Amino acid sequence: MSLLLRGGNKLLAPGAGGVLGLPCLASLSRLPAAPSALVRPLSTPAASQASSFDAPSSSSSSSSSDAQAADCPAPGVRDAERFRLTPSTEFWRTWDPRQDVPSARALVAHALTELTGAGEGGRTSQRYFASHLLRTSAFASLGAAGFLTHAATSAMRMTTPAGPTIAQPTPAALADAGYRALLEALAAYRQDGRRVAAGEYAFPWDMESSRHPQYRGVLRKAARFMFEATQTLRRRRAAEPDNLWVRGSVYPEYYKNTYHYQTDGWLSTHSSEVYETSTESLFVGRQDAMQRLVLPPLMDHLANVAGRGASDVQQDQHSPPRVLELACGTGRLGTFVRDNLPYAEYHAVDLSPFYLERARSNHRAWEKLRGAKLARGAAGAHFYHDSIERVPDELARVLGDDGGWFDAVYCVYTFHELPMEAREAAVRTMFQALKPGGVAVLVDSIQLGDREPLDRSIGRFGDFNEPHYRGYISTDLGALFERAGFACVEKEMNSSSKRLSFMKPTT
Ligand SMILES: C[S@@+](CC[C@H](N)C(=O)[O-])C[C@H]1O[C@@H](n2cnc3c(N)ncnc32)[C@H](O)[C@@H]1O
Repeated sequence: MSLLLRGGNKLLAPGAGGVLGLPCLASLSRLPAAPSALVRPLSTPAASQASSFDAPSSSSSSSSSDAQAADCPAPGVRDAERFRLTPSTEFWRTWDPRQDVPSARALVAHALTELTGAGEGGRTSQRYFASHLLRTSAFASLGAAGFLTHAATSAMRMTTPAGPTIAQPTPAALADAGYRALLEALAAYRQDGRRVAAGEYAFPWDMESSRHPQYRGVLRKAARFMFEATQTLRRRRAAEPDNLWVRGSVYPEYYKNTYHYQTDGWLSTHSSEVYETSTESLFVGRQDAMQRLVLPPLMDHLANVAGRGASDVQQDQHSPPRVLELACGTGRLGTFVRDNLPYAEYHAVDLSPFYLERARSNHRAWEKLRGAKLARGAAGAHFYHDSIERVPDELARVLGDDGGWFDAVYCVYTFHELPMEAREAAVRTMFQALKPGGVAVLVDSIQLGDREPLDRSIGRFGDFNEPHYRGYISTDLGALFERAGFACVEKEMNSSSKRLSFMKPTT
């Protein structure tokens, strides 16, 4: 069996690879014990992190191959040479949810304390945990139902796919995976919830109003997800992705792949409509919390742009800050960004017209719900049906000049699906798009060296029709961005995601 999930969005088979950013079930028993401390010092000096590895070379090659040389220190280790590390980075580096029983207890205690209102986070944290635990219950139930439907339909067919199939996990292995996924969600919520309670960014707007589109047509969405789960799990079991239904030179070759064995790849209405349900079911609800990693550097930078507080920036009607999202998908994250920066001019690029349509709909829903914020003069959203590689030409046509249009640019859960050449092109686009002093933010799957207990298993995620994933987890992203001219700034992690931020130098 396999589960559709995203590390970014991924299909993972517990019997054959990592699950929800967790080690594969088969390898769990071989994992080393992890330290139990939940919170560790602010940052570990680069030298001490690197010391368990061979000394890093001073620069990375500009090879176009997909992976780094095998004898290089893992990229998660090399990050410490270039980036300021946040406390969460150090916590996640060694945390193993299955082995670290004191941490597990502390997480449950934290959630219960916040839930009862007795915690430090006050009423905001209470609301946060109440809504997020409900969210996780809903998505965990949906994920389990999807798997059971797949198991039932496979049994009814009473046939196995031709050729070798992926071994099915035992119920005990599934229960263990579920337990660890729930702990990952609790830890992710603790990190995100603390930021919300501290007022660093807004309470998630989708959890505030029953008018959010995610609450519409719930039964229809659940049925569509079940259908999609049975199809993707069947393809994964047989290791047979469908061919893409459409051909054409409009799309780069690597794009014409049905990633994660999902139906139609990125190219159908069905795919765009089931995407959010699938990914959140398989992250048991924590995907949004991980994606919100993108917010702090964007908000900090836009506050600095005007040399004033964030609220002043929001009200600066004459020169609204411009933000560019590359590969926006269904636009869901973009609505969280705009909810925190409603006066920023938001531009979004994606190569799938189906996902862009969905993004437009998500943004319209946000605009409708947040009418009061917008009434003071929001700068609006602009969508581009284009590739990350080629969009600068269109931006130049629309915005004038040949670059330097944006104060901030970000890209989430897409680099791991790009071959090395496309990753390099994406970084070049980011550099060209930014004004001098502008900030670039990347959020994607953790890499080798980011969470040591997972190192032996995360690569198997590449078996889920993710041809570039193994190259991605071995790529020194700091070096990649530095080669394009960026300066590395800060690294943060949350569960199976990492965030790296960069600055385009002013000179
Ligand atoms: C894994 S999804 C991530 C979507 C969104 N960033 C999120 O985190 O939910 C990948 C998205 O990248 C888009 N994409 C992939 N390669 C692209 C490219 N070269 N140019 C533009 N979009 C691309 C796909 O169409 C898809 O919407």
